[in-house]
Amino acid sequence: MRILFDNDTGIDDALALVYLLSKPEVDLAAITCSAGNVSADQVARNNLALLQLCGRPEVEVAAGASDPLSIPLVTTPETHGEQGLGYATLPAASAPVSQRSAVDLWIEEVRRAPGELTALLTAPLTNFALALRRDAELPRLLKRTVIMGGCYFYQGNTTPTAEWNTHVDPHAAAEVFAAFEGLPEEQLPIVCALETTERIELTSAHLARLAQEAGSAGEELLRPEDPPGTPSTAANPLIRVLSDALRFYFEFHRQYDQGYIAHVHDLFAAAVAAGTVDYRVRPATVHVETAPGPLVGTTVADYRGLWGRKPNARIVAWNDPPAVFDEVIGSIAALARR
Ligand code: BDR
Ligand code: CA
Repeated sequence: MRILFDNDTGIDDALALVYLLSKPEVDLAAITCSAGNVSADQVARNNLALLQLCGRPEVEVAAGASDPLSIPLVTTPETHGEQGLGYATLPAASAPVSQRSAVDLWIEEVRRAPGELTALLTAPLTNFALALRRDAELPRLLKRTVIMGGCYFYQGNTTPTAEWNTHVDPHAAAEVFAAFEGLPEEQLPIVCALETTERIELTSAHLARLAQEAGSAGEELLRPEDPPGTPSTAANPLIRVLSDALRFYFEFHRQYDQGYIAHVHDLFAAAVAAGTVDYRVRPATVHVETAPGPLVGTTVADYRGLWGRKPNARIVAWNDPPAVFDEVIGSIAALARR
């Protein structure tokens, strides 16, 4: 399974990356960096540092567009920390950013292996939309496309009706969905909607299980009563970084009364891309609102063909959170033990 990954790392993007690296059957073709949770440059630094931490410095990381297509960039330090990895600090990687741009990389890699690559997109869709402007054939040349984005008949996490990735670059999201309209069903993007990714609720008990399965001592457990920012004492470097990142994410979710938990949206999308978890989809035609105003970035799904248009997405309508955690915890623990 060869995966090309565009992300905005980001705490849950980081978990997605670590998970992909933990799967021997996943061949990570390259990573492209989108502005979103933090700037595109910071995303590149985070991806390179995580690859180094996981012993995979050879994976190519390409810089992406620094701004959304038509509106100014908004980042979210309150959700992911100033540098995108919560309280975790990683040494700068020695590997450089690729000479290729994100757009060149997408076009060259997909064209080199038609029908073979899975696209995993867990960020605002700016880079992919720019690639489509240059090469409109990309959707039909991909084996599979998996997107984390949008919410459908469900409350938003950025505005009352909009999810973060579609809100940051609504024009890119609209162009991407338009590009898939009318393709055969098996080529429509699998859309991990907020209503299913918010069910992937990681708790401190999950983290304790991860540490235990990784053979790391128990003193690093995150406890809700600990003062904000209490650093992890885990001996295992990967568990320490994930704990320090997740403490920040837990504190963010607690601020919004969601509990001492973390919604790990992109980790679920990565498992979908890797083909390691069960889910059910419903084909639909997605509209992304681009007009400025309170609904910008809102996604609406027509499941019944009422607009008289062809489907452009397969929206995930069901997932199995306990099975997802069984899968990802076991795999990441195995990587941490290596
Ligand atoms: C999405 O927004 C980002 O903050 C996360 O990384 C995820 O991709 C969830 O709405
Ligand atoms: Ca993301």
